[in-house]
Amino acid sequence: MRRISGWGTLLVFVAVTVGACASMRPPTPVAMPSLYKRLGGREGIAIVVNDFAANMVSDPRVNDRFKDKKPAELEAFKSKVADQICEATGGPCSYYGKDMKTAHEGMRITEAEWNATVENLVKALDKNNVDARSKQELLAALGPMKKDIVGQ
Ligand code: HEM
Repeated sequence: MRRISGWGTLLVFVAVTVGACASMRPPTPVAMPSLYKRLGGREGIAIVVNDFAANMVSDPRVNDRFKDKKPAELEAFKSKVADQICEATGGPCSYYGKDMKTAHEGMRITEAEWNATVENLVKALDKNNVDARSKQELLAALGPMKKDIVGQ
């Protein structure tokens, strides 16, 4: 029987070592889908906004603000909020509505109304099983708008 030569042993050693290193390489990181995608794209956002608007309209803490709105006006409001969220979360949309300061000018929206509105949004996100991280990211994207909405 022939013995494996020194070179043969070295070759086997190198092959095994290189193979082991290759399999130990950390996995290539997979890019996190945009928040827009995680919210379910245009369709998912439209469903969340629809539920959010329904919560607002049935919430005595804020529904005085919407009581005089005609159904077409409410639809236009939902469509604008959906475009705004789509754009803010990395989706292929553009928001053409008023800037937040102008949109809420003269309304004198209170801190309590802001909190109720955030609660109504969270309720809509929960109803649609949006995960905790995506929920936090959306709230963080909308949070800076508070200074242009409350007390204007
Ligand atoms: C992050 C929070 C909010 C966002 C992103 C938001 C977004 C918007 C948008 C996009 C519009 C439509 C602007 C336009 O007509 O061009 C709007 C209008 C309006 N918002 Fe807000 N808003 C927020 C908070 C609030 C709060 C706290 C209230 C009061 C409780 C409120 C009450 C209204 C009302 C009454 C209108 C007018 C609707 C109409 O004219 O048909 N919003 N808002």
